[in-house]
Amino acid sequence: MDIWLATSNSGKVNEFKSLLHGKGLVFHQLSEVKNYHSPAETGETFLDNARIKAKSLKSVMPDQWVVAEDSGLQVKGLKDLPGVHSARYAGDKATDHENVAKVMKMVNLRTPTERSAKFVCCIVAISPTGEEFVFDGVVEGSISKKVAGTAGFGYDVCFIPEGEEKTFAELGIPFKNKVSHRAQAIRKLVEIF
Ligand code: IMP
Repeated sequence: MDIWLATSNSGKVNEFKSLLHGKGLVFHQLSEVKNYHSPAETGETFLDNARIKAKSLKSVMPDQWVVAEDSGLQVKGLKDLPGVHSARYAGDKATDHENVAKVMKMVNLRTPTERSAKFVCCIVAISPTGEEFVFDGVVEGSISKKVAGTAGFGYDVCFIPEGEEKTFAELGIPFKNKVSHRAQAIRKLVEIF
């Protein structure tokens, strides 16, 4: 079965592929859709933005399964920011490195409570007949005192999942895929296929 993913984030695409490997699903990504322009992510919640992305892709792929995902990091000491602004926290064209540096600068040397954080993921899937399905996942943890590790993407270098002492980027993708916010949401998604 073909699934059209409304993302061009290769880190996310790789996680979808590895979590759903062997299920007979063929993933397509935005680079395969000619003349497609991603919509502005103007929503106030992860669900709003996942729905905006899913509906936009569905409008050019009306007969296909489309799956969109919106996710981000919420840090207690930053009043749940970067949140829906995670990809652009340090500016519209910010790199992962710049976004992480901004978080580290703001939370460094504060209390463990302020460093507590979570990753949130919301997936919206729309079937060929237009039925909408919503799935979510959350992983609790904290912001590390130093960036560490090389696996994953985004804020993985500064996020320590609850019960661990290393960052997602140090723990590696197989570990992340067991517990992550996206893994939880994707496992719920797979039930409908
Ligand atoms: P989106 O593409 O608008 O959903 O942006 C999500 C952003 O949140 C990413 O660019 C990352 O900065 C951050 N993010 C979401 N999920 C993860 C993850 O699993 N690890 C690290 N950063 C993540």
